[in-house]
Order: sequence, then structure tokens, then C-alpha cells
Amino acid sequence: MALVTLKQILQEADQSGYGVGSFNVVNMETIIGTIKAAEETRSPIIMQAAQVRLKHSPLHLLGPMMLEAAKRALVPVAVHLDHGTDLAVIKQALDLGFTSVMFDGSHLPLEKNIAETLKVVKLARNYGASVEAEIGRVGGSEDNSEDIEMVTTQVCDAQQFYEGTGVDALAIAIGNVHGIYKSKPRLQFQRIREIDGVVAAPLVLHGGSGITVDDFRQCIQCGIKKINVQTATLTNIVEQVKQLLQLNKQVDYFTYHHSIIDAAYVSVKHHIEAFQSNNHA
Ligand code: 13P
Repeated sequence: MALVTLKQILQEADQSGYGVGSFNVVNMETIIGTIKAAEETRSPIIMQAAQVRLKHSPLHLLGPMMLEAAKRALVPVAVHLDHGTDLAVIKQALDLGFTSVMFDGSHLPLEKNIAETLKVVKLARNYGASVEAEIGRVGGSEDNSEDIEMVTTQVCDAQQFYEGTGVDALAIAIGNVHGIYKSKPRLQFQRIREIDGVVAAPLVLHGGSGITVDDFRQCIQCGIKKINVQTATLTNIVEQVKQLLQLNKQVDYFTYHHSIIDAAYVSVKHHIEAFQSNNHA
């Protein structure tokens, strides 16, 4: 069990037809809640830290905690860098022992994205680590700082990108956005199927928060195997802590601490069950 690569986790999901949650963590409490949900549901999971959030949770502190939690877990866990944009940060994650990194060159022209992604693929192979990349552009932003417009992934671009890089997982844009959806998500299932037909690597859905269980399952049937979730968990934590403080003005630190763990656990468990990865570890 314990620490595995992204490639291993997604291969098994692909063979058995379920999706694997890739849950963003930001501190010890979110790590504990995430692992607890995975162990209780007997689910493989991916635990990830987004580069843009490292200003709050430095990688040299957060990374070792994630890795130690993964090694001790009773279920397979891949430890992943989410939306890496700087080679130095990607290398730092690999040096720490992350089993997977994402390079996000989705803002670059196709040829440049291929060339930059290839550099990361070559680097990661020296560590035996997996690589995820992105083609097209997921809307919103991982930290709500920008409202990036979604650019739907073109099938021919995805094929050219995959053939040029050989990545282990490919994030696509098919109506998904990071953060809160401004209106009901309208996901392009047919486009997922078409991309899946020309890309052998498992496909990745970013912006998992706010998507219905039915839509998640349809995405998985069409070829999505990794689903990223962050906002839903962080929002649940804030809501639960608010309720706790409203009900009891005398809250001590450790009641508050356990409330964070529990809120992360509830959100992760809900998504694991939606993706049907429970009882697969
Ligand atoms: P949400 O915050 O919308 O769940 O998206 C998470 C994500 O895609 C991280 O890469």
C-alpha cells in the first residue's frame, strides 16, 4: 500500500472504470482528514499541493508531511504537485519524493507547451515520477485570483500534444472551471469521448467542486480518471468552523482543530463515493 505513482493509481482506475479524487491539502489538518476518508472508504487517492498556494503553506514543510502521511496510509496514495509552473518548484517537489508533478503550460502556444512539458517529462523520469500536463485552458484560477476564460480543448491539439510529450495524464478543458461555478456547469461529454479516442493517457478533470454526482459519473464513463477537488473542501471547512464558533463562543483550540479535520474528511468522503473509487484499495 502507501506511496505510489500517479501512473499506477490511474492505470488501475482505467482498468476497473472508476475515477480517483485528487484532493488539495493545505496543512496537517486537511492531510489527516483526507487520509482518514480514504482509509475508511478503502479508496486509492491522490493528495496534491498547488504551487500557487505554497506562499501560505511552504513546500519544504507541507511536502514532508504529505509524504509521511502517504507512506503510513493503509491505502495507495500518490503525492502530486498541482499546477507547477516553475521548474525550480517542480524539482523541489521531486527532490522531496513527490511521485507525480503537473506542469501547467496551458497559457503557452501548443508547440511551446509541448517543448516545456518535455523538459519536465525528462526531469521526472530520472525520479521515476509521473507527469500531468494541460491542453486547452481550464477556466477560473486555482486561488480565485483571476477569472481566466475557459478555452475548450481541441481533439487534434490533444493528440499532437500527447504524441509529442508522452505524459502520464492529460488535463482537458470541456466546460470545467476552477472555484465556484457562476452558473450550472455544462460539460461537453462528447468532447471527452473524442479526446479519449486519440489520447492513450488517462484524462484529468480540474474544477471538480460544484459538479453533480451524475455528471462526475458520466465524465468517468467518457474517459476522465483523475478529478481535482479543492474549493468544496476549503468551503466546507470555513462553514463548519463558522457554525462551531456561532454555537459556542468559548471554543478551545483543539475543538476547532478537530472541526477542520472533520470538515475535510466529510468533503473528501463525499467525492470518493461520487467517483466510485471506494472499496478499490
Ligand atoms: P476546484 O477548486 O474548483 O475544486 O478545482 C480544484 C482544481 O482543479 C485544482 O487543480
